[in-house]
Amino acid sequence: MSEKLRMGVLGLGEGRSIISAAVNSPCWELGCICDLNEELCKERCREFGVSNYTVSYEEMLADKTIDVIGIYTPDQLHAEHIKMALAAGKHVICTKPLMVSLDQAQSLLDAWKKSGRHVFVGQSSRYFEPMRRQREDYLAGRHGDLVTLETHYISDSRWFLARDWSHAKGFSWMYNFMIHAVDLAAWYLPDIEEVYGAGIVSENTKAYGLEVPDTLKFLLKDKSGRFASVTGAYATPTLGSAVQQNISCTLRGTKGISQAGYPKLKYYTNFEPLEKTAAEHTFEELHDYYFRFEAENHHAGEYQNYIEYFAECIGKGGTPLPDLREGIHTLAVMEAMEKSLETGQVASVSEVLKRRNISL
Ligand SMILES: NC(=O)c1ccc[n+]([C@@H]2O[C@H](COP(=O)([O-])OP(=O)(O)OC[C@H]3O[C@@H](n4cnc5c(N)ncnc54)[C@H](O)[C@@H]3O)[C@@H](O)[C@H]2O)c1
Repeated sequence: MSEKLRMGVLGLGEGRSIISAAVNSPCWELGCICDLNEELCKERCREFGVSNYTVSYEEMLADKTIDVIGIYTPDQLHAEHIKMALAAGKHVICTKPLMVSLDQAQSLLDAWKKSGRHVFVGQSSRYFEPMRRQREDYLAGRHGDLVTLETHYISDSRWFLARDWSHAKGFSWMYNFMIHAVDLAAWYLPDIEEVYGAGIVSENTKAYGLEVPDTLKFLLKDKSGRFASVTGAYATPTLGSAVQQNISCTLRGTKGISQAGYPKLKYYTNFEPLEKTAAEHTFEELHDYYFRFEAENHHAGEYQNYIEYFAECIGKGGTPLPDLREGIHTLAVMEAMEKSLETGQVASVSEVLKRRNISL
């Protein structure tokens, strides 16, 4: 392996953000970029002043100088693209959602174990500044014992339905969007066991010919009885991010409370000594680090944070998290959520794993 890690990027829409991260990193080199759309390859080459592109994933995988593949293809293709990278001896950074169901989970686990390589799931929300600060405060014990948490991802994302793959089998608001909020809940409650929820397919989603729930609310309970509430709404008007953050995570502990969100670079805390109103922390000076392109709709800063973290872990011989096991466990929580929608009953995560014959 070269001193710097060499990255190959697959899928150059949102993949644009990880290219920006790699070319701005002291720990990484950009080896090659790849997309079926040659015009897009050329556009990204011009944008970042690079020349090595291919329209063939196989060709990029055959390049022995590349250590890590960053996967940013449509959700439904991730499992196959990860397997191909592992078979070629590459580490993987795969964007969320890791997969759109557990169908390929066990075969992917087998391929991963055989390969001895790392698979890191790019859950970008964990790497946004307010969420990073919140995690630091949580680990430093400033909340006391965690009692409960609330997460949401709420955005009117009907614009997303212009993508052809949003109409292909496997697309859902839950796996593509809500996973951000579910992952934040599972980050703080890694032992979620029971889930219960409700969901509606609104007329607004039906108008696009889709039958996937766009408005959802769940309770996720861990083995100790602590629970998270997780909310999603994707096809109805919103208050706008100036009033309500699109993504939010509130931690309520015995000694303190905090709320972190996205896309506003704001974080609220009320720790001991407690005040009547929470303190506001803003990170506006980091705006251009997190948002590098024409609108606040890419995630270069979060990806910069996670590729540096990935390189640091590899350098120390550690495991970058969330890894494949953690990613699959979160998908098992999602499958239990779907089950609860279907049956109207509480669903169990360990039963999902048992039924699927998945050993983590
Ligand atoms: N916050 C985040 O982490 C975040 C944000 C946005 C998108 N994403 C994820 O990134 C992925 C891509 O989303 P997007 O918005 O860029 O979609 P997109 O449709 O704009 O881009 C996908 C690209 O993949 C290319 N592609 C498809 N199959 C390919 C193949 N076999 N080989 C090479 N290229 C191929 C397409 O040509 C296209 O350019 C999705 O999984 C999405 O969920 C994550």
